[in-house]
Amino acid sequence: GAAVEVDISSLKPGEKLTVEWRGKPVWIVRRTPEQLEALKKNDPQLADPDSKRTAYPTPDYAKNGYRSIKPEYFVGVGICSHLGCSPSDKFQAGPQPSLPDDWNGGFLCPCHGSTFDLAGRVFKNKPAPDNLEVPPHMYLSDTKLLIG
Ligand code: FES
Repeated sequence: GAAVEVDISSLKPGEKLTVEWRGKPVWIVRRTPEQLEALKKNDPQLADPDSKRTAYPTPDYAKNGYRSIKPEYFVGVGICSHLGCSPSDKFQAGPQPSLPDDWNGGFLCPCHGSTFDLAGRVFKNKPAPDNLEVPPHMYLSDTKLLIG
């Protein structure tokens, strides 16, 4: 499939953009400094914090605590690794229905309740077996991203 070029110049901190790549939704999330800071606290609760599993190999350039090239931007395929539903945004931190009290922001799969943090990392003891896929991507400039 063809690569997709995305203009991210209008994406504000805390916002998400969805584009289609190979028939899949790809999310680009611009994370706030607070959201980035909160990511570091999630590790003990995650199934695979360092993205070592290989079902959806994480590209080397995203094998870090933010799972991204630039910490500010998360680029991930918006399809749950369980049975393929699309998780919904739960960016707001703090208590929310069906989320833990210490929720730091991320995604909730409506189908069977898997939760992912804002780096697409799945929490422990959830049906989803793996983190969200990070698609191959690169920056063409500060505001242009190439997916695929
Ligand atoms: Fe997401 Fe089952 S499809 S938890």
